[in-house]
Amino acid sequence: MFLKLLLLFELFSQGRGPIETSRAGAENSAEQCRSCHAAQYREWRSSRHSMAWTNDFFQFDYRKSRKQWCRNCHIPLVAQQKDDSAAITLRNEGINCITCHVRGETFFAKSKRPKSPHNTKPLATFGDDRFCEGCHQFNFPRFEESGELKNYTEEPMQNTVAQFRAGPYVQSHTCRDCHARSPAGHSYAGAHDLNMLRQALAFRVCRTSERVHTRLINQGAGHNVPTGDVHRHIAVKAWRSNTPENLVEAFYGRRFKPIVEGGKVTIWDSSLPPNTFRDWNFSHEALGGEPSEPINIEIRYLYGSRESYLPPFSESPHSVVFRVRTPFTELASCLSVRSGSF
Ligand code: HEC
Ligand code: HEC
Ligand code: HEC
Ligand code: HEC
Ligand code: HEC
Repeated sequence: MFLKLLLLFELFSQGRGPIETSRAGAENSAEQCRSCHAAQYREWRSSRHSMAWTNDFFQFDYRKSRKQWCRNCHIPLVAQQKDDSAAITLRNEGINCITCHVRGETFFAKSKRPKSPHNTKPLATFGDDRFCEGCHQFNFPRFEESGELKNYTEEPMQNTVAQFRAGPYVQSHTCRDCHARSPAGHSYAGAHDLNMLRQALAFRVCRTSERVHTRLINQGAGHNVPTGDVHRHIAVKAWRSNTPENLVEAFYGRRFKPIVEGGKVTIWDSSLPPNTFRDWNFSHEALGGEPSEPINIEIRYLYGSRESYLPPFSESPHSVVFRVRTPFTELASCLSVRSGSF
């Protein structure tokens, strides 16, 4: 508990305020580290952390409200939040090396390497779930009239770390065991990486006399899928190519509603906790066409910036995680598939 407070206090504030590094302008740049740490730099450059400010999803959303609160996590450094040209350049680095590792002349890491030239303070919690918690776990905000953060409600807005702690993986894994497997440990692949999505999810489909049965399984994520941002959803879509107007869809994700006290509450949550599944079935006749015509089924992971998804989901930016195309009659019978209906 002492270390947790110490770490959060020293490094991150869960969006409560900007981070003062006590370093001037360009000294807050990843370019300062690049020559000696080329491998970490390269991986970080391709990570979502470095794109936290520049990415289109963020910018689209941010333009609607331009809150200081958003800046506190997506460009947290005071040096990134100023109006000078150094600040504007630094914003393109999003969450950078300095954000995670440096305050003033002090460097932070799990341990100091023997050849290190830095004044490094080792922190036992550095890089574990308490570290990620400083940005990846927070509740819905309430704002002052001025738009400043007033306080947080009791309702999680991003709940990734709590989901991890409540699940089975906390016994055997850290966040970094799954997210920092790249050679230099700085790529943090997540939902924008198709391999990660396919590692997380499995999809099964079978038929009974009239119906197609689908099962989506969270087999490999250490937290719910989707987790993180409120906009994330998964859509299951099914249609026949000649009658696309009869498309049927289901979605998995969260829905919220605003409350008078300010902030929001969750009114629906069909995201998939670790090692659980969700079933959905539909009549193949509802799709129109002939039984011999192939049925298309797609599992789409949706990004975008809409909190609530109403059909058609297809307009939203997405990754196709799985695609199946088979005539109804050629789907495996659910009775012949082991373990219940699958
Ligand atoms: C002049 C070369 C040089 C520069 C510039 C440099 N480092 Fe290092 N750093 C090293 C060396 C050498 C080590 C030890 C690495 C090893 O043994 O694997 C190290 C180790 C580290 C470690 C591990 C903890 C430790 O102290 O051993 C971190 C974190 C780190 N550097 C971050 C940074 C960051 C962030 C920057 C930019 C602000 C930076 N470094 C700039 C040479 C440099
Ligand atoms: C307390 C920290 C915090 C604050 C404050 C915050 N975010 Fe984020 N945001 C995150 C984290 C962590 C993620 C990564 C989770 C994920 O990818 O699902 C994220 C992801 C996002 C994404 C998804 C980006 C993508 O790559 O798809 C959008 C959009 C976004 N935030 C917009 C905002 C906006 C707009 C605000 C202000 C209204 C804001 N955020 C405030 C921490 C924060
Ligand atoms: C999101 C936070 C985060 C960012 C951004 C980040 N690091 Fe790290 N870094 C870590 C964690 C966590 C570790 C593992 C802790 C340890 O081994 O000491 C680490 C370890 C290191 C190490 C020790 C050797 C290694 O690779 O494990 C070096 C060197 C390093 N980082 C340099 C950098 C540089 C340079 C940048 C920017 C290009 C950077 N880091 C950006 C979190 C971050
Ligand atoms: C200083 C705040 C901060 C810290 C510390 C931090 N993150 Fe992030 N992380 C973010 C933000 C903000 C984003 C969203 C970037 C964007 O806009 O896409 C993000 C994105 C990610 C993503 C990509 C999500 C996606 O949907 O593709 C992963 C995975 C991730 N972080 C894992 C971690 C892990 C694991 C740790 C702890 C070792 C950690 N982060 C520490 C702020 C942080
Ligand atoms: C057992 C492996 C595993 C562990 C442990 C794990 N993750 Fe993930 N994580 C994944 C996989 C696989 C995905 C891709 C599927 C997805 O996006 O949900 C993912 C996705 C994410 C995303 C993308 C957002 C989203 O909506 O899915 C974030 C952010 C993230 N993880 C953060 C964390 C943090 C923080 C921890 C630790 C508290 C953690 N993860 C622990 C495997 C893991």
